[in-house]
Amino acid sequence: MAGVPVRTTIAKVVRRHVAHRRYKYQDRRVLEQIVNPFILSRFAPQRVLEIGREPYEAFYNEFFTGRELWTIDWDAAKAPFGARNHIVDDAANLCRHFREGYFDFMLMNGVFGWGLNEHEAIENAFGAVHAILAPGGVFVLGWNDTPDLVPVPLDRVQALKRFRLYLFPPLNATSFKCSTCQHIYNFYRK
Ligand SMILES: C[S@@+](CC[C@H](N)C(=O)[O-])C[C@H]1O[C@@H](n2cnc3c(N)ncnc32)[C@H](O)[C@@H]1O
Repeated sequence: MAGVPVRTTIAKVVRRHVAHRRYKYQDRRVLEQIVNPFILSRFAPQRVLEIGREPYEAFYNEFFTGRELWTIDWDAAKAPFGARNHIVDDAANLCRHFREGYFDFMLMNGVFGWGLNEHEAIENAFGAVHAILAPGGVFVLGWNDTPDLVPVPLDRVQALKRFRLYLFPPLNATSFKCSTCQHIYNFYRK
């Protein structure tokens, strides 16, 4: 899929669903209009996993039409907003559900510090993400850099050291801080 058509398609999806609620939030715009379109056009991921799903993201399924999209959230009430392939479980248990190297692209946004808070569970979750990511696959971690939402400093999470930092071309950074919500996107590859 070429870059411009993907961006156009995604922009239409965002406009159709939420554009009027997005202009204030750079963190959401970066995810929806920069991160996802670039990943789709550059990597054409066939198997995608999104960890953590809120009702306002249900339309994200449309970004990944024609691909094998999975979602996981430990709150059963979020299942109606997930993909057709949805799992109700703790992200720390991902290895119970998928074989090694299964996914080409994985996104975990707003989960670290929002429920994924215990150091051991954090290590297990990021360890599992690394295990089930394909070699060369991309992992995007979105988190909020505020004291109440950083349960463990990320540089103390051993499992994250297994990834390679990925210089994300559209933002020219391996880690990008948005102007809203102290939100940061970290970019990794396996
Ligand atoms: C603040 S919401 C944000 C999620 C959303 N992806 C976003 O971008 O706004 C956090 C979500 O992560 C889920 N969650 C938190 N900890 C989790 C864990 N350890 N395993 C699976 N889901 C978790 C919550 O149930 C909730 O739906």
